[in-house]
Amino acid sequence: EMPLLEQCYNLLDFEAVARRAMKKTAWGYYSSAADDEITLRENHSAFHRIWFRPRILIDVEKVDFSTTMLGTPCSIPFYVTATALGKLGHVEGEVVLTRSAHKHNVVQMIPTLASCAFDEIVDAAAPGQVQWLQLYVNKDRAITQRIVQHAEKRGCKGLFITVDAPQLGRREKDMRMKFTDQGSNVQSGQATDNSQGAARAISSFIDPSLSWADIPWFRSITKMPIVLKGVQRVEDVVKAAEAGVQGVVLSNHGGRQLEFARSAVEVLAETMPVLRELGLEDKIEIYVDGGVRRATDILKALCLGAKGVGIGRPFLYAMSAYGQDGVDRAMQLLKDEMEMGMRLIGARSIAELNPSMVDARSLFSH
Ligand code: FNR
Repeated sequence: EMPLLEQCYNLLDFEAVARRAMKKTAWGYYSSAADDEITLRENHSAFHRIWFRPRILIDVEKVDFSTTMLGTPCSIPFYVTATALGKLGHVEGEVVLTRSAHKHNVVQMIPTLASCAFDEIVDAAAPGQVQWLQLYVNKDRAITQRIVQHAEKRGCKGLFITVDAPQLGRREKDMRMKFTDQGSNVQSGQATDNSQGAARAISSFIDPSLSWADIPWFRSITKMPIVLKGVQRVEDVVKAAEAGVQGVVLSNHGGRQLEFARSAVEVLAETMPVLRELGLEDKIEIYVDGGVRRATDILKALCLGAKGVGIGRPFLYAMSAYGQDGVDRAMQLLKDEMEMGMRLIGARSIAELNPSMVDARSLFSH
């Protein structure tokens, strides 16, 4: 007996349903993370070490949590991050997320390794709907150039270059499954080895020689804002700002890459004071992803200085369990939580969120 959609009251509820409803191979690919999954658990539990310092007696009858990301207006400061192989969870794949993103006026990041063809995902967007491209850089730069310039031509408004995956992490839950899905639109152009799980099968084209020296080249082939996805220490945030990119995503790839990588929110707390000291805080937008499951998590990240947060697995689980209705409800639940959270911490707008509203002293003591 599967619970009805109305019985899902928060994002974690969708995970519990999806675990039972999904095919084992799909669950293995979506839920898995590197090695012993310590970083996976840390991503969410790091938020549990941050507490609120709410303001009282602020008139919060009206609260507005709309914001902008890379210049794009959005209704709430989260975006649908890139997750590969959407058709493992739902026959229609990523276009389901596209429709929900439109309905809720949030940005969708399109993965290089989407199950749907790139153009299909762009075509599924409504006029004016904003999408970004997540890029895995191919060893063959001509292929990468084609992908980037095609995305720009089709109207993508941001290029997110994944920099935390020169080699794919060992995800043993996934590796135990023999990956046989035929529904994927694998862009590697190479024969895949299916004996090592879905992740290994689709990722052999990724260039491990990618380096800081390549950034000017990306700058030269596109006018899209460039964001480095998967930055994990303040020194690299500073380097990114100096390299002239528009943003970084502090991220450990949902715990799927380097085991014992720190949570993004901890790196954020390390980063913002340094950026302020160097006068770089307005030079670069800071995003975080990993373990965001509640609007209180979003609020904590924004108080600490993030421009927005990415959310991955919860939307995959909602889609896998209930299709678009599930994703719509997951997004609505976050909006409902956000409205209440803003009121209870005494913030009327995103601009009012600031570091004084959180107590992050326990964040660094684990
Ligand atoms: C990912 N992620 C990811 N990132 C990326 O840059 N390219 C990709 O193809 C994928 N694929 C992918 C598949 C699946 C199934 C997951 C769960 C994740 C990482 C993703 O963008 C993001 O960093 C994390 O998912 C954020 O963590 P949460 O929200 O899943 O906890």
